[in-house]
Amino acid sequence: MRLLVVGANGLLGSNVVDAGQQRGWDVCGTYHSTRPAFDVPLAQFDLGDYEEFGNLLEEYEPDVVVNCAAMTDVDGCERDPERAQLLNGDAADGLAAHCDDKEVEFVHLSTDYVFDGTARDPYTEEATPNPVQAYGESKLAGERAVRRESETALLARLSFVWGIHRGTGELTGFPAWVRDQLRSGEAVPLFADQWVTPTRAGQAAETLLDLLAREEGGLYHVACASCVTPYEFGTVIAEEMGADPELLQESSMADVDRAATRPTYSCLDVGNVEEVLDRAQPTVREDVASAWNAVQ
Ligand SMILES: NC(=O)c1ccc[n+]([C@@H]2O[C@H](COP(=O)([O-])OP(=O)(O)OC[C@H]3O[C@@H](n4cnc5c(N)ncnc54)[C@H](OP(=O)(O)O)[C@@H]3O)[C@@H](O)[C@H]2O)c1
Repeated sequence: MRLLVVGANGLLGSNVVDAGQQRGWDVCGTYHSTRPAFDVPLAQFDLGDYEEFGNLLEEYEPDVVVNCAAMTDVDGCERDPERAQLLNGDAADGLAAHCDDKEVEFVHLSTDYVFDGTARDPYTEEATPNPVQAYGESKLAGERAVRRESETALLARLSFVWGIHRGTGELTGFPAWVRDQLRSGEAVPLFADQWVTPTRAGQAAETLLDLLAREEGGLYHVACASCVTPYEFGTVIAEEMGADPELLQESSMADVDRAATRPTYSCLDVGNVEEVLDRAQPTVREDVASAWNAVQ
C-alpha cells in the first residue's frame, strides 16, 4: 500500500505517517511550513494550491491519500472565514476531485464542531450538523464537497485531538498544557460545562488505517468512548501523573473571551466504528495511560 499523507507535520498527520511505517506501508507526505524529521519522501505543498495537487499524484503515485492538513485554529477561522473556506472547504473538494480522477482512494478528516452542541446524548453519524462557528461551517463544506466528488471516500470526524507528535516525540495538545501546569505547581482552571470525547491522535491513526485495510468508505466518528468535561479529563491526567488534584479548578466556558463560539456538548457516538472493526474504542483513561507509558 502506497500512502500519501497530506499535512505530515500535523499532530494527526505525524501519527498516520508513523502508523503506516509500522505496518510496512510505503509512505510519503507533504508539509506546509515545517519539514518533519521523517525519513520518507516529502514535498512542500500549500492547500491553497490545491489545483496543483494532480502533479503530486503523478509524482508519488499513491494508492491512497489521507488529508490531515487543515486550518485548525478555530478563532483564526472566525477572523478569516474566507481563508477557512478556501483551506477546509475548497481544498478538500479539489483534493477529492483529483483523487477521484486518478482512482486514488481519499480519506478526509472532519470535526465534532459540525454540531451545534444542543444534544445531550453523543452525536451519531446520522445526526444533523448545524455548525455555530466559521471553522465548523468550513469543515462541513469540506465534508459535503468530498462526498459530492466521491461516494467511496472515507470521512472521519474527530473531537478534541491530542497525543504524541511522532515527528518530535512531544506530548501535544490539552494534556501537555495540563501536565506542564501541574508540574509547575500552578492552578489549572478547566471547563466543567463543556463535554467532548477526546481523540488520541495515535489511536485515530490506527483506526483510520484499520478502516482502510478493510476497504471501508463512508462517514465514521473516531474518538474515545468517554464523554467528559475538560475538568474530568484533567482529573484523569493528574491521577496518571500522581499530581495534586487540588490544583485543578472548575471553570466555565463563559470565563474566557474568544472569537468563535464553541458547542457546549460535542461528544461523538463511536458505536459504528466499534461495530465495523469489532472492537471497543478506548476509554479516556486507557488513552491517557497509553500515552503516558509511551512518553516515560
Ligand atoms: N485539533 C483538534 O482538536 C481537532 C478536532 C476535531 C477534528 N480535527 C481535524 O483533524 C484533522 C487533523 O488535525 P490536527 O489536530 O492534526 O491539526 P494540526 O496539528 O493543527 O495539523 C494541521 C496541519 O495542517 C497544515 N496546514 C495548515 N494550513 C495549511 C496550508 N495552507 N497548506 C497545507 N497545510 C496546511 C499545518 O501545517 P503548518 O503548521 O505548517 O501550517 C499542520 O501540519 C484536521 O482536519 C482537523 O480539522 C482536529
